[in-house]
Amino acid sequence: MLQAKSINAGYGPAQVLFDFDFSVAEREKVAIIGPNGSGKSTLLKTLMGLTTLYSGVVEFEGEDISRLEPFERARMGLAYLPQVGSTFDNLTIKENLRMAGYTLHKDEREERIGEVLDIFPILKSYVNERVKVLSGGMRQMLATGIALMRRPKIMLFDEPTANLAPNLAEEVMNKILEIEEQFGITMVFVEQNAAMVLGCCDTAYLLVNGRLSYTGSAQELLDNPRFGQIFLGVETI
Ligand SMILES: Nc1ncnc2c1ncn2[C@@H]1O[C@H](COP(=O)(O)OP(=O)(O)OP(=O)(O)O)[C@@H](O)[C@H]1O
Ligand SMILES: [Mg+2]
Repeated sequence: MLQAKSINAGYGPAQVLFDFDFSVAEREKVAIIGPNGSGKSTLLKTLMGLTTLYSGVVEFEGEDISRLEPFERARMGLAYLPQVGSTFDNLTIKENLRMAGYTLHKDEREERIGEVLDIFPILKSYVNERVKVLSGGMRQMLATGIALMRRPKIMLFDEPTANLAPNLAEEVMNKILEIEEQFGITMVFVEQNAAMVLGCCDTAYLLVNGRLSYTGSAQELLDNPRFGQIFLGVETI
């Protein structure tokens, strides 16, 4: 569904990703993990067209999208949920969802808002509250709901559970997996909490210093007794 072939990418002259290969099949759940600064966010941003791609190709559903603008990729069905800042904090929950669906006909927009609120019932009681008063968990749920308004084919999450208490992190993750089931959306996760994300994904990508250090079964990586050393790049498989 989404593929990157030997990409070299970064920010202006600062290269971050080196000869990186990445691919996600439809409905495959993929975990991208690695130490701080290893290039996980840069990988998602590169798939979305938000970095400098020096060489290599990004394909979506067989089409070369390497030169497309982020909004064009969004239109094709890619949704990117950044680490921070995907909500309008001075607007209410309802206004945020309306903004997300502004290109839709009013009836369809209201129907989808209703669906989002059914998935996240907790947001219902705060629908007219400004986002800035919400907890981190509720903001993440709203950010997911905003992306869902456009019915994407694939969602790229950058640390959806960052800064959440463990029970809340699990709740957010379970909700996202429910959405995967209900809407058939392919999910890619960058996560700090490697154990949690490997436990619910099919495939893992481990990045160390901008290079691919492991890809394969998420469960096998989790079960590897040398996981700690492999994760830090001290040992390889
Ligand atoms: N906008 C930017 N301009 C220049 N360099 C950047 C930019 N964003 C990130 N970098 C650099 O790129 C490298 C990889 O950063 P990236 O954010 O992709 O890592 P990460 O794996 O997501 O880390 P974390 O776990 O801390 O979120 C780092 O050295 C970082 O300093
Ligand atoms: Mg990051």
